Formats: sequence, structure tokens, C-alpha cells
Amino acid sequence: MIAKHDVLVVGAGCAGMRAAIEAFDAGADVAMISKIHPTRSHSGAAEGGINAALGNASEDNPEIHAYDTVKGSDYLGDQDAIEILCEEAPADVYQLENWGAVFSRTEDGRIAQRPFGAAGAPRTAYAADITGHVLVQVLWEQVCKRDIPTYEEYFAWQLVENDGRCQGVVCWDLLEGGLKTIGAKTVILATGGAGRLYTGTTNAYSCTGDGMSMALRAGLGLKDMEMMQFHPTTLAPTGVLITEGCRGEGAFLLNKDGERFLKRYAPNTMELASRDVISRAEQMEIDAGRGVDGNVLLDLRHLGAERIIERLPGSRELAMTFLGVDPIYDPIPVRPGAHYHMGGVATDVWGQTELTGLYAAGECACVSVHGANRLGGNALMETITFGKRAGSHAAEWALSHTTVDVPDSVERDAERDLTALLERTDGERPWSIRDELASSMHENFGVFRRERQMEQQGKVVAGLRDRYQRVVVEDKGEVFNTDLTQAIELDFLLDLAECMVVAGIERKESRGAHARPDDYPVRDDENFLQHTIVHLVDGSPQLSWEPVRMTKWQPQERKY
Ligand code: FUM
Repeated sequence: MIAKHDVLVVGAGCAGMRAAIEAFDAGADVAMISKIHPTRSHSGAAEGGINAALGNASEDNPEIHAYDTVKGSDYLGDQDAIEILCEEAPADVYQLENWGAVFSRTEDGRIAQRPFGAAGAPRTAYAADITGHVLVQVLWEQVCKRDIPTYEEYFAWQLVENDGRCQGVVCWDLLEGGLKTIGAKTVILATGGAGRLYTGTTNAYSCTGDGMSMALRAGLGLKDMEMMQFHPTTLAPTGVLITEGCRGEGAFLLNKDGERFLKRYAPNTMELASRDVISRAEQMEIDAGRGVDGNVLLDLRHLGAERIIERLPGSRELAMTFLGVDPIYDPIPVRPGAHYHMGGVATDVWGQTELTGLYAAGECACVSVHGANRLGGNALMETITFGKRAGSHAAEWALSHTTVDVPDSVERDAERDLTALLERTDGERPWSIRDELASSMHENFGVFRRERQMEQQGKVVAGLRDRYQRVVVEDKGEVFNTDLTQAIELDFLLDLAECMVVAGIERKESRGAHARPDDYPVRDDENFLQHTIVHLVDGSPQLSWEPVRMTKWQPQERKY
């Protein structure tokens, strides 16, 4: 063990940094581990904004925000967690502002708020369309101000479980090579999502579900893993995100006939319906032959050059760089792409998991505020509010417990596994398995799910898992061995794909992101107003169910 801390945060995006700051301010000795530099975390790719009922653009309050979130979640969100999020959001946003977040402003100097999908009021605070980037910089400044140490370019691989508690993390040191174990009284997973399970994804290459898989292997349950959100406006073939902020500012979605097709799917809210509804509508248009080369068109032209340049400069630049399309003059071809995992490590409202000493926050966690469909702008808010809460609770727990005990055998066992992987000289390279995993998930577990395809995907993943046993890492070196870390990331992704398929097949209804048009086209509250929980039992995913925590909102038909 090279070091020990009270609180060790794995991942240094918005949730991780916010957790670290809170734990530090509570008096704990805190450190962060990150496989990339914190300011390059995927949180920085969040564009359109962060939701809080500030009421700066119209009448709003936390109760309306909570109702919109419950409805948006297709009633699968845990209502106690949603109420906490919406109550604490305004103060948490002002805290970010006080730390220096440069939010866009109203004429009279207040934080500006724009409409986002399925929100009853313009509630999304934003910094043009680079909100995540701005928040990451602000949080990093606060981390630096406090001198919170970061094990940068450390790749977290295994949780240390001893004496019924999580007591640290075994990492691979990317820069120097070698395994390094860091002990801790509490560990907070904040490793983000797993969008790299798919070919077309808005997620960075680093989003490989590391924390979810580490928790699963430590015996913890993953909740609602079938709930992968598809964002309606991503660029083909890369999956680069074009923000929902475009539609918030008034952009139209058109089919090949120039028709605003949402009038047939969401006549009241049109382009500002929820993401699941719009992604399905787009896919139906494309499948019916009304798309344009597998896309629909996002038209911003009527907004005018001035507004596009002021409010949406990042989206314009992305469209120009990746497609050669300037949205001032031409519509942007877009299609649904894998964006956000509503599922993750099951936690309570303080980020605590089933394992003492282990916490999770942000996209890798499922608290669950998003249920079956997340509202745009609620993810950044969740990272901040639940990052803060996890940091506070983890620090309190750590400060009242004294020991960290990591047996030497932990690192020895990890070393043995690593040697077996590195010493293999024949076999298949990880990338080919990874490519097949991503394309088959796209094909068989996409916007629409069909029993036969999900079963087929189960077989595909089992075959890929079998091939993974013979995976070969060609680079045998110590320094910046990305061949090695990509092989380990693939192992993580395969775990998660297995969980998604098992949960997806058993959820025999359509709810939010889980749409089964052929066999179970409607929501079935009688049987499935429940969370799926997947544990690994003897190496295989086993499914159980857990009730949704309801407070005051009974399920209703969901219309936009
Ligand atoms: O479209 C967007 O700007 C994405 C925001 C979000 O996922 O919250």
C-alpha cells in the first residue's frame, strides 16, 4: 500500500471533484484517483446546462421541478431522491456561481435559464453551450485551492474489500507502470458512464463503466442497467453531441420532406418533448424512409447568426468540424446516439452502497433520480448535489472510524491476474472484440428493443466473453500501456453488457428508454413499477426486483 486516506474518490469529473471538496471541507484527508487529467473528464462534454428551479425566466419552484423529473422518469425514479435533488439544486448552483462559474446572464444580471425537454419551465442554467467545461474548470480550481492530492493517470482496477468493508483501491500506474494500492476508510466511486458500449455515443473514450463493474465484482447490485438513454441529436458516425440547448433556443427537427414530424408524436411540446419520445420519433421516421441518409435534420437557420454565435457557438463549431455543416446556413443531420446510463451502482440518498465504506455518485451511481428516462440538465445537477452528499457522508463516516487494513495478499492476487494477462503471447487483440460489442449493442439493444434481438445479444456477448479469455496484450511495457488498460476496460464493458441484456429481457413492458414496440408496447405498473437489480452470482448475472420509492406522485399516463 503506497498511501492511505480518510476518503478516496475514484474519478475526477464533476461528481468526483464535488465529493472531494465537500469531504475536505468536512475535515477529512481526501485524495482523488483519475485515469485522465481531471479537466479532461467527460463531465466537460456536458453542453446545454444544469437544472435548478431558480425562477429567473418564469415562475418555478422545486416541487414543479420534482414533478417534471418524476414524470420524465416514467415513474421509475425514486421520489425521495428526486425531491432532495430539486430542493437542494438552487443553493448548489449558487454555490457554483460563488466559486466563479461564468453562467450566461439575463439582461438584469441574473443567471439565465433556457427551456429544455420535458421541463415545465425554462429551468436550465447554462454557460453558452459549454456548461460542463465551465463547471469542471471551477471545481478543479477549488480542488487546487485546497491542495487535494490527485493520483493522476492512475487506472483504478479493483476495490479492496476486507473485513466486510471497502478499504481502498488497487490501481495500475499509467505513467510509471506497476500496481499501486491506495488504502482508504471510505471510497467514493465517481467514474461516470459506459457509453463506449455503443458505436454511436456522445461519451468520451474514457467512459467504460469502470466503477460499475468494480462494484459488481465486489458483490454489489447494479440497478436499472437496461435503462440506457439515447440522445436525439448526435452526429453520425461519431456520436458527437449537438446540445438539446439548440432545441431549447428554438431549433426544429425536420424529416426529408421538411416536415416538423414531432407534431405526430408530441403535439403539445414538439421539439421539447422528453428524449425517449423524440429519439423514438426520429427512429420511426428514419425506419419509415423519411430520413436523410439515416438521419433527420436539426434546423437552426431561423434563429439567425447572432443568436447561434452567442448561445450555441460550441454546437456550430462541432457541426462545422465534424460534418462541414455551418448551421447558420444549413440544417445539421442528426440521429439518436447512446448518451447516458440511468442505471448504475445502487445507492441511498447519501451515496452509500450495500458495502460499508463504499459510496457512489454521478452517472456510475443509481440513486435513482432519473428512473427510466433522464431530463436534459438533470445530470450535471445530480453530479453536484449527490457528489456533495456522498462527500459529506463519507467524510463523517471516515472521521469516526480509525483503521485501514489492506492485507498484502490483495495486491499479490491482482499481480497474479495481471501477469497472466500480460504473459499471454497468442490470441485476439482487444479492439476487435470491443468493436463487435459496440456495433452489436447498437444493433440489438438500441432505441427499440425486441426479445429476439436481446436474446441474440446475450449470445453475442457470451461469445465475446469467451473470446476475451484469449485476449492478447501486445504491448508488454510498463509506461503508458494503453493496450493493457483498454483490455481491462473491455472486460468491464462486457460485464455491463451482460447485466443490461439480462435486465432488458426480463423487463417485459415499455417504460422510458426501454421501448418494446412488438411484444410489450405499453407501461405495466402492476408488474413492473420496480427497479431491476443485477448481482453477480458464481460469475453470472442474477436478477432481482426492488420497489420504487414513492412519496407523493402516483403514476399517470405520460403525454407530451
Ligand atoms: O444536450 C445536452 O446539452 C445534454 C445535456 C444533458 O445530457 O444533460
